[in-house]
Amino acid sequence: MDVAGRVAELRDTLRRLAAAYYVEDQPEVPDAVYDSLMRELLELEERHPELYEPDSPTQRVGGAPRGDFRAVTHRPPLLSLANAMDAEELLAFDGRVAQAAGAPAGPYVVEPKIDGLTVVLHYERGVLRLGATRGDGQTGEDVTENLRAIADLPKRLGPGAPDRVEVRGEVYLPVSRFQELNRQRAAEGKPLFQNPRNAAAGSLRQQDAGVTASRGLGLYCYELRLGAEPSRQSDALELLAQWGLPVNPLRWRCDTITDVIAVTQEFAPRRDALPYAVDGLVVKLDDLAIARRLGATQKAPRAQIAFKFPADEAATELLAIEVQVGRTGALTPTAVLAPVRLAGTTVQRASLHNEDLIRDRDIRVGDTVRVRKAGEIIPEVIGVVQDDAHLLRPPYAFPTVCPVCGAEAVRREGEAVRRCANPSCPAKLREWLLHLGSRAALDIDGLGPYAVDMLLERGLVREPEDLFRLSADDLAGLPRFGEKSAGKLVEELAAARGRPLAKVLVALGIPHVGERSAQALAERFGSLQALGAANGEELAEVAGIGETTAEEILRFVEGPVGRRLLRTLPELGFRPEAPTGTAAGPLAGEVVVFTGKLSQPRSEAQALARSLGATVESDVTRRTTLVVAGEDAGQKLDKARSLAIKTLSEAEFGAIAGAGSRKGLT
Ligand code: IVH
Repeated sequence: MDVAGRVAELRDTLRRLAAAYYVEDQPEVPDAVYDSLMRELLELEERHPELYEPDSPTQRVGGAPRGDFRAVTHRPPLLSLANAMDAEELLAFDGRVAQAAGAPAGPYVVEPKIDGLTVVLHYERGVLRLGATRGDGQTGEDVTENLRAIADLPKRLGPGAPDRVEVRGEVYLPVSRFQELNRQRAAEGKPLFQNPRNAAAGSLRQQDAGVTASRGLGLYCYELRLGAEPSRQSDALELLAQWGLPVNPLRWRCDTITDVIAVTQEFAPRRDALPYAVDGLVVKLDDLAIARRLGATQKAPRAQIAFKFPADEAATELLAIEVQVGRTGALTPTAVLAPVRLAGTTVQRASLHNEDLIRDRDIRVGDTVRVRKAGEIIPEVIGVVQDDAHLLRPPYAFPTVCPVCGAEAVRREGEAVRRCANPSCPAKLREWLLHLGSRAALDIDGLGPYAVDMLLERGLVREPEDLFRLSADDLAGLPRFGEKSAGKLVEELAAARGRPLAKVLVALGIPHVGERSAQALAERFGSLQALGAANGEELAEVAGIGETTAEEILRFVEGPVGRRLLRTLPELGFRPEAPTGTAAGPLAGEVVVFTGKLSQPRSEAQALARSLGATVESDVTRRTTLVVAGEDAGQKLDKARSLAIKTLSEAEFGAIAGAGSRKGLT
């Protein structure tokens, strides 16, 4: 889409979202999404002044009054605040203040930025005469009666208050009340409030003040507009409190902007513990005389700024959907995004999870999408911000063939992913080789993307096991591969043959078999051969191996590639054992089955047997050489006897084990 088109689309969307937010108190998207769209529009308008429009949403603040309440004109208008998104922008703000003031800036007062609804309160001779919402800053609504229903609001100011007082404050709904209200609304089938701010607005703008009273709204005042002219913001807050107005006790006085930055960092993780929602910090120059001298831009005072905590959600344009083929052949869609700021970083790619998500959320290329980043997790697309053009865009058709080799991409029943069906798909092999060389698997230093691409390109590797047939001569012929690095890689490949069984199992790249399950499998089966011979039941018995993983393992070991690998790996020098395995132990060569109730956990007894050189299995078969029978042993013991297999009591086994491990200690 061209810039003009995007600007028009953003304006339309923002207008609609603003109406839902301000007029209906029912926002369609989280605030962070609205903010990021507004930011995108601001940036585009800044870069393209030819697209200026006087009634762009960037030129107007707040929303028009709903009309249910009497209009109130604010004199002077209620400004808003400029935003700083990070430490750098705070430093720039400090620089501007210092330059305008002609002196180093500070000290500053830092206050929590409560996510509520701005109100102004007019007191005359100590009595509340008028209370109004901010509205668009020029005109708000008379909500005096409803404000009187707020317990925190003093109906009368204390002694010492001037004849006329006008203050600005924030009405908020405590988080616990907000959650309770939404629970109630859910039970009644009513639409939920998106955030405490909108719930506060909805609660205040009620025809029946009784409803307002029942909601349990809170109030904090933070600005003295009329009544006294204290020389410092910190004094203003003291005065408000002295007159009996509620003032947030939480605030910091910082000598320099460096201290302010430290506060933003220390406070960010603590804010969720507060009983009210906080979406940032407000940084105010303490010296009000200088602040007055610096004045304001059209929208905001120059000596104050809102520091916004990095939002974990934003909105941006979906430029394309890329589908990558992974090691297991899974086709994974990735969103390519117009760059957007999210949780303190610029994001250009995000996960789209799978084809169902794209279909269920009806995500189309060209849409404005909501992107979220939670914790350390990769950003993900979670939905679409609807606009008029959405339906004009073609629905996304997920590929049914592999985008790399063109083979059919099949979706097995019950699975969310579609996989390339070609066992020798070059994309799969590439990912497999990279996986095989990774730390979790065989940890082969030097087998990075460059080396892998070279080996594939030159046809030196067609199957993963070809890696272990490479000679230093093969490698030395590759561009950017000197004799030294060739020799080094050959050494690394030789060392990889000695990795323990769990690592080799990870390297096989069986779907769902990660480090942990590989470890459990290694402990249980002790060798590649034993794993290859295991049946589904034996596999599913292993801790952490579910039915699906067991099925994947069977599919692999019974499939052509798995069968070939299990045969060729030992030929290539792999003799992987479980790390505790000692082939020379007193139980070397024994195939042991435990049955009946044991006095110690079965897994411990099995691990002990393995550490003494045994292979442990769970069923008595002709292979079994020894059965250890605990109390109440039943069928398996009978079977062992019928097959004339040697049996031991747990105590007898313990004696052998004790002797074996003592031997191991000396
Ligand atoms: S000072 C000239 N202090 O944040 C503007 N604002 O984004 C003076 N807010 O509209 C605002 N807590 O609704 C200030 N301690 C605080 C605040 C606060 C919340 C809100 C207020 C304002 C918005 C600005």
